[in-house]
Amino acid sequence: MSTGVNSLMSAIADIGTDPRRGGYTRPVYSTAELTLREWFVSEAQARGLEVEEDRNGILWAWWDTPDDDGVTLTRTGALVTGSHVDSVPGGGAFDGPLGVASALAAVDLLKAREAAGELRRRRALAVTVFPEEEGSRFGVACLGSRLLTGAISAQKALSLKDADGLTFGEVARARGLEVDRIGADTEALARIGDFVELHVEQGRGLNTDAFTDAHGSQPAVAVGSSILGHGRWRISVYGQGNHAGTTLMSDRADPMIAAAEIILAVRSAAVAHEGARATVGRMEPIPGGTNVIASRVDLWLDVRHPDDAVTAQVLEEIHRSMTQIAAVQGCRAHMVEESYSRTVHFTPELTRAVEAAVRRSTPGAPTLDTGAGHDAGVLAAHVPSSMIFVRNPSGISHSPEEYVESADADAGVVALADVLADLL
Ligand code: GLV
Ligand code: MN
Ligand code: MN
Ligand code: MN
Repeated sequence: MSTGVNSLMSAIADIGTDPRRGGYTRPVYSTAELTLREWFVSEAQARGLEVEEDRNGILWAWWDTPDDDGVTLTRTGALVTGSHVDSVPGGGAFDGPLGVASALAAVDLLKAREAAGELRRRRALAVTVFPEEEGSRFGVACLGSRLLTGAISAQKALSLKDADGLTFGEVARARGLEVDRIGADTEALARIGDFVELHVEQGRGLNTDAFTDAHGSQPAVAVGSSILGHGRWRISVYGQGNHAGTTLMSDRADPMIAAAEIILAVRSAAVAHEGARATVGRMEPIPGGTNVIASRVDLWLDVRHPDDAVTAQVLEEIHRSMTQIAAVQGCRAHMVEESYSRTVHFTPELTRAVEAAVRRSTPGAPTLDTGAGHDAGVLAAHVPSSMIFVRNPSGISHSPEEYVESADADAGVVALADVLADLL
């Protein structure tokens, strides 16, 4: 079934492309991300949805027109679906936008079903777009949903800085948000009765022999069961900045050497714990010159495991190694937590309802956990939340090679529309 999701995705395929890194670079509130937000507003309005932006920059597009009895549906306890349109640096086309485009396409299907007398709505539906899901600009992932739920204080959020030294507060103000109203928003949160996020599958979850049938096909979609606990830490290694030509090797306190060994220690700590993932994907030598021994290096560490206690253990091991390595190199190292999200298990009742709906169109759809973080995970602490994953044949994400086949994207929309229809 052709649902329109692929043409929605094609319409934004040129926005935020990054010729240097490949793929897309769409940091929150950049020109690219703002253009996608405008695209969302106009697509939502074209469907008769009423769009508003809340105090935390979350976009809500409402379908709350009167029901069969002529009663306008209330915006409390609504059914909400959506995702994000920001990206990591050099990310794929689908992480985020697929969930937003699929939600719009699902609204089209539901409107057609209602017109055919096959759907009776009992509550309002909203499609949401969350800002800074990736945390690629201000360092804290799911910043919009964390602010909405109070999982991060306004004070902490407003002082987060981007790579240019601009604070989130400054950027939000320049965007027209009222900075003194940013933060926990119980009224907006009360609008969500249930939250469902469709997302591209980001690993080999569906792309395995276990789910491949005799004809070599795999289910187009899966249902989310849980999100691994995950966090980010900044490690700063301090040494002695100096001249690359005049400083003998024996006279150096080079934080780059310590950083290199710390990165190897990060891998060893993760490998020692089954299921752990630890990554240093970003580092910054300061001042950063070819002929300059750095005076300081910042490393950003990402650690994940299904068991929060194991994550803590991995982190403790990294901390111990870091301290020893720095001392041997004549340096000093310091670690600061930037964010942590505990392992989330989605509400079993909602998961069962989503499984039942999804399996009507994709009978073999499995239920999978994920190592990726999502706004649905942050919201799950407050409202029943669930996820639908669409097959990614490359098994690769946060990379230009992330991929979704058109037929699977359509299957995702049908699955999402069935879920929403059951819950509306
Ligand atoms: C975001 O997608 C993350 O899981 O880091
Ligand atoms: Mn992502
Ligand atoms: Mn995402
Ligand atoms: Mn994510």
